[in-house]
Amino acid sequence: MQIIFKTVSPPIIFVQKNMEARKAIESFTVMNELVLPNDTNTFGNLMGGRLMYWMDIAAFMAVAKHCNFPSMTVSVDNISFKNPIKLGNIVHIQSKVTRAFNTSMEVHLKVWGEDAQQKYKYESNEAYFTFVALDAHGKPRTVPPVIAESEEEIKLFDGALRRRQLRLILAGKMKPMDATELKSIFSI
Ligand SMILES: CC(C)(COP(=O)(O)OP(=O)(O)OC[C@H]1O[C@@H](n2cnc3c(N)ncnc32)[C@H](O)[C@@H]1OP(=O)(O)O)[C@@H](O)C(=O)NCCC(=O)NCCS
Repeated sequence: MQIIFKTVSPPIIFVQKNMEARKAIESFTVMNELVLPNDTNTFGNLMGGRLMYWMDIAAFMAVAKHCNFPSMTVSVDNISFKNPIKLGNIVHIQSKVTRAFNTSMEVHLKVWGEDAQQKYKYESNEAYFTFVALDAHGKPRTVPPVIAESEEEIKLFDGALRRRQLRLILAGKMKPMDATELKSIFSI
């Protein structure tokens, strides 16, 4: 018997890599996971570290859709867990890029748990991750701006400047006196 292998040319895909602004909705990502025994702590709830790992992946996917460049997590804002997610429940993670600055992008994440048997969903937590796009030499590179359209997207876009200044101050990369956007909240 003779086996013939045919080579099939892969389809040519042109990836959009221009710097035109992109709609926030274009980066919208939904990720689902099932809480298995190996994901839980001794109370039978999803471990915070496992959830943060999944959130990092969901945030990365949103950023990858927005800029199409390799990117790295540079900062994660405080995450407070409102409700534990139980063993056997479904985890829903939504991520969307809120705003791009020069080389960095802020991603907003929302997390819910779902008990599919009892048919109810509950909020777990919300967070902001910041990513930086890198060039072939590992240096930060410019990313396309974000177009915020919905009421929620505009609110998140506007607040991103304040959150950025706060995290840069906390990281020791900005002097409080230079945080004009933050100061405007406190000035009468
Ligand atoms: C990402 C990295 C290459 C950037 O290098 P850097 O010397 O900090 O570069 P810059 O100071 O020019 O900052 C680059 C951008 O990141 C932003 N940034 C830096 N530190 C930040 C922080 N703590 N929080 C938010 N944004 C931050 C800067 O504001 C800048 O954004 P902008 O260009 O939009 O204004 C470098 O910080 C790094 O390698 N960090 C480690 C990343 C990592 O290991 N992640 C976890 C594993 S994936």
